[in-house]
Amino acid sequence: MTPKPPEFHDRMLSLGLARVSEAAAIACAYLIGRGDEKAADQAAVDAMRRGLNQLEIQGTVVIGEGERDEAPMLYIGEEVGSGTGPKVDIALDPLEGTTLTAKDMPNALAVIAMGPRGTMLHAPDVYMDKLAIGPGFKPGVVTISMSPSERVSALASAKGCSTSDITVCVLERPRHEEMINEIRGTGAAIRLITDGDVAGVMHCAEPDVTGIDMYMGSGGAPEGVLAAAALKCMGGQIYGKLLFRNDDERGRARKAGITNFDRVYTRDDMVTGDVIFAATGVTDGSLLPGIKREPGYITAETILMRSKTGSVRRMIYRNPMS
Ligand code: FBP
Repeated sequence: MTPKPPEFHDRMLSLGLARVSEAAAIACAYLIGRGDEKAADQAAVDAMRRGLNQLEIQGTVVIGEGERDEAPMLYIGEEVGSGTGPKVDIALDPLEGTTLTAKDMPNALAVIAMGPRGTMLHAPDVYMDKLAIGPGFKPGVVTISMSPSERVSALASAKGCSTSDITVCVLERPRHEEMINEIRGTGAAIRLITDGDVAGVMHCAEPDVTGIDMYMGSGGAPEGVLAAAALKCMGGQIYGKLLFRNDDERGRARKAGITNFDRVYTRDDMVTGDVIFAATGVTDGSLLPGIKREPGYITAETILMRSKTGSVRRMIYRNPMS
């Protein structure tokens, strides 16, 4: 009889996961502000892959760099890890915010999440309509089916404040213009970000620190699953609906096993089991400081979280560099 693979020991695995996101962030340190998105992404991908292969896991990348034929490394379905240890699903974005890194703009992160096999939505590389709020509200206080202004009003009455006290984070894109005007029409403020909606969603979990109450708008579906993993640890709600622009994208979804194209996914639909999540700051941001290079040293800060306990650990790593 073949022995059962070991169980998912999130506590033991989490420190290893932090080292993996740290390695990815550090690898692109010398590419921050150099205008070369591809080189920065490649450096982060290589380092994350090397780090993952040192972990004692039988890992499958479910959210990765793309389909096998378009991404040579960390593609969807790639097996990673030592090949021994628990069977796990991995969602990753070695460099979330390639443009932010190339331009040295805030909030670029190296991000990775891990859970037991079969617990993460295999989101295809299409857009997702996203709506997120922080912890402490009844489920469904805001919904995807509400208009942007209805969402602002619903959140304001749940918080017991005026709509003008609400701040919504939105990706600055022409496709969001109408939504932005409608939100502004309620009196609410908007924090526009140029990229990086995983960080955008995570900001909702700590409104007192970040000043952001709600995230809305469309962005990458893979980033939606990563954001759901983060909120599963930090608390908060996220809803996501896949958006398809053509048959190729519908085909990608079918290939990923998705049959209901109109489904609205909740946080716990996207990540159904325990999850561990690590993010390391690449450029300075409101969640995490970026990589610092001092003469002879490099410093990285990582946030490491476990959904089982709700624990949040911030780790500062300092290493001599030759
Ligand atoms: P990259 O790191 O791959 O450049 O993605 C950054 C990002 O801003 C995501 O955070 C977001 O989900 C997506 O791109 C939005 O896509 P688009 O730029 O097509 O609007």
